[in-house]
Amino acid sequence: MENDAVTTAQESAGDVKDLALAEKGKRKIEWANQQMPVLQLIRKRFIKEQPLAGIRLAACLHVTSETANLAITLRDGGADVVLCASNPLSTQDEVAATLVKDYSIPTFAIKGEDNATYYAHVNAAIDHRPQITMDDGADLVTTLLTKRTDLVAGVIGGTEETTTGVIRLRAMAKDGTLKYPVIAVNDAQTKHFFDNRYGTGQSTIDGILRATNLLLAGLKFVIAGYGWCGRGVAMRAKGLGADVIVTEINPVRALEAVMDGFRVMSMADAAKIGDIFVTVTGNKNVLAAEHFENMKDGAVLANSGHFNVEIDIPALERMSSAKRPTRPFVEEFAMRDGRKLYLLGEGRLINLAAAEGHPASVMDMSFANQALAAEYLLKHASELKRDVYSVPEAIDRQIAKLKLESMGVHVDKLTPEQEQYLSSWSEGT
Ligand SMILES: NC(=O)c1ccc[n+]([C@@H]2O[C@H](COP(=O)([O-])OP(=O)(O)OC[C@H]3O[C@@H](n4cnc5c(N)ncnc54)[C@H](O)[C@@H]3O)[C@@H](O)[C@H]2O)c1
Repeated sequence: MENDAVTTAQESAGDVKDLALAEKGKRKIEWANQQMPVLQLIRKRFIKEQPLAGIRLAACLHVTSETANLAITLRDGGADVVLCASNPLSTQDEVAATLVKDYSIPTFAIKGEDNATYYAHVNAAIDHRPQITMDDGADLVTTLLTKRTDLVAGVIGGTEETTTGVIRLRAMAKDGTLKYPVIAVNDAQTKHFFDNRYGTGQSTIDGILRATNLLLAGLKFVIAGYGWCGRGVAMRAKGLGADVIVTEINPVRALEAVMDGFRVMSMADAAKIGDIFVTVTGNKNVLAAEHFENMKDGAVLANSGHFNVEIDIPALERMSSAKRPTRPFVEEFAMRDGRKLYLLGEGRLINLAAAEGHPASVMDMSFANQALAAEYLLKHASELKRDVYSVPEAIDRQIAKLKLESMGVHVDKLTPEQEQYLSSWSEGT
């Protein structure tokens, strides 16, 4: 009867690559947990207070060990949680396996899944009839609002993790498409100041290095976009000795990059001299045919922005005569004039495709925001409209305070005299 004992992933409410990977995933989750003291504190309180009791929650997030700790926290707070991938290449299969097998959290995610499976997984999460949606890039809310409209009325609210998702949601709110309130977790200071800058900064470089093993020192490293993520990537590439070049469309950001000590130029000029190109703009076709035409033989192209549209891959395909994989996550495009260009991680978020995404210590704050935003949504549902809301400042400050405490860092407090001074217009005259 041995066969009867074999459970497939689907039978145990989820679709993962291989349940036999579970033990490895469990150890990874426990390792990440050690670096997530703020989330640990929230989890302890959630276990006691059960703020999410009985709430069905669907999360469409990168399925990593850090996300697993968030999912466990939400479950321990009483929520009935289901998880699906927010990107076809970002799933850690061992983490997905243990979530299903050891933590009873239905998880629909397989690294490398095709587009049809990706959306089948998003729909499987929606089948859960969520009362709260948690998104990273707004694919869950978009699918719900366009294809599963019968379930929209049951949703109390949602949260959104990343810049691109917030942009999509604000566009929906503006034209009246958004049908329930969403909290823009990305916009919390304890999220984008740290996650986008230090998290993306370090892990983007990590992904490029794991994929290529290139020595960055002395290479011309072109970064498109000097936003929160771009600043972080630039800072870390400079630290490794790269000659960093920034391209921008926003004059203020471009000026900031100049004063931070980077060369700033148009992509048309940078294309001719760059060795490595990284896009982090949230925009499309930032690297396009006119740039590929002028790139040096051997140039490496990577993206760390949310969607795989920042590099015009269809143009690259059209302009090349052949392509072949050279190493994991490195694809060589043979251009018709004999040059070779190398695309990393299929143009998807390179830090998640070729590395492990952000370190747990930074996701600690991002996911503390997610957990507290879910609690806030439930408490304040009746006051919220069909709009995009910021994380309340009190939550942001609380998370920063707890993070500092966990690091053993003490800060000063305003004296009553200083408080009076700062709050009165008549002082100083
Ligand atoms: N890889 C990750 O793990 C990760 C983490 C956080 C955010 N993101 C994603 O990274 C992207 C950037 O996020 P952010 O928080 O830095 O956003 P941001 O708005 O702070 O910065 C984006 C910058 O790109 C610039 N830009 C837009 N179009 C451009 C173009 N054609 N050429 C050059 N510059 C251009 C904008 O002016 C802006 O300064 C988003 O898609 C976001 O969702 C990825």
